[in-house]
Amino acid sequence: MSKKELGFGIIGTGAIAGMHAAAINACENARLVAVCSSTAERARQAADKFGVPSDYQIEEFLKRKDIDIVAICTHSGNHLEPAIAAAAAGKHVLLEKPIEVSLDRADQLIAACERAGVKLGVIFQNRLKPGYLKLKQAVQNGMLGRLLMGTAAINWYRDPSYYSGSDWKGTLKGDGGAALINQGVHTIDLLLDVMGEAQSVFGQVKTVVHAIEGEDLGAALVSFKNGAIGTITGGTALYPGNPERLEVYGEKGNIILEAGKIVVWNVPGSDAGLPDSDVGGSGASDPMAIDFRLHQGQVEDMVLAVIDNREPMVTGKDARRSLELILGIYESSKSNLPVRF
Ligand SMILES: NC(=O)c1ccc[n+]([C@@H]2O[C@H](COP(=O)([O-])OP(=O)(O)OC[C@H]3O[C@@H](n4cnc5c(N)ncnc54)[C@H](O)[C@@H]3O)[C@@H](O)[C@H]2O)c1
Repeated sequence: MSKKELGFGIIGTGAIAGMHAAAINACENARLVAVCSSTAERARQAADKFGVPSDYQIEEFLKRKDIDIVAICTHSGNHLEPAIAAAAAGKHVLLEKPIEVSLDRADQLIAACERAGVKLGVIFQNRLKPGYLKLKQAVQNGMLGRLLMGTAAINWYRDPSYYSGSDWKGTLKGDGGAALINQGVHTIDLLLDVMGEAQSVFGQVKTVVHAIEGEDLGAALVSFKNGAIGTITGGTALYPGNPERLEVYGEKGNIILEAGKIVVWNVPGSDAGLPDSDVGGSGASDPMAIDFRLHQGQVEDMVLAVIDNREPMVTGKDARRSLELILGIYESSKSNLPVRF
């Protein structure tokens, strides 16, 4: 292995792990060296699927010296334990979204990586969509002027089999909720990345179609610390599911993205936003209708963060913000009162 190439191990070999393996293998400076499943049988299957050695005992897996970075692809409510083990073994950690399902578990995870002196990166691959990068740059360059309003709409659909075929999706312990924390979190992360931190939220969530513990419908009114306001709507009950939208309004103009593509570019004196290339897809009705190139960008970033000893593009603390806002919506819905942060 060349000095500039880092070894990856994947923990959790379900659906998203395939995306990580493809992303890692497509990177010049990364190589998948081993995977870790939950049982001996699954480990055997994973060895065939991924073409690398596999294990099901995490302690043994983490003893491998050729693993520099561990990609954690276990279910959302089980990111903490593998992350603590990986950090304690001196491995850098690249986690799937959301960071965890409670603030206490997210804080333990962040603290464990800090204590061990390892990097912690969290996958929010939509930050790398070309349309979003243009939007962010326009906002940062002041092209929209003072921000007034931001809205995120993730009005999606999932077939009942999406939940019935999984032992964790839509459960409070495994998923932390459902539509907002699992699907909506991507666009909520972008909303916060553009608008800055939320000051308060008033929200309502419901379970209207699916037989699950978490919500399949939600709406919220957000106040941001910069004085702007915004809304969030989300669902997995909204057949057949529309591409997610992010709308950002400033004093001088506005930009609207649909599935990460620019569909409105009202920026005076600039038509730089159109036409826009299509990278990444949308999970509006199919969870795996995304491609690995955006994950690849985050894998490359993580490798460079380790080599250059800098923070990854989405840190644990960044990822905590979307979790805090979503949990605030849940709390507000229960109390019927706004939640302040
Ligand atoms: N970035 C994205 O667009 C995206 C898309 C889908 C899923 N995800 C995230 O990826 C994570 C996994 O989702 P998924 O759809 O792949 O779930 P999945 O159920 O298909 O896979 C999870 C796997 O983890 C394994 N596992 C659980 N605990 C383990 C342990 N202690 N050791 C080893 N293996 C263990 C399970 O056996 C299962 O195979 C979730 O946090 C989800 O939110 C992200």
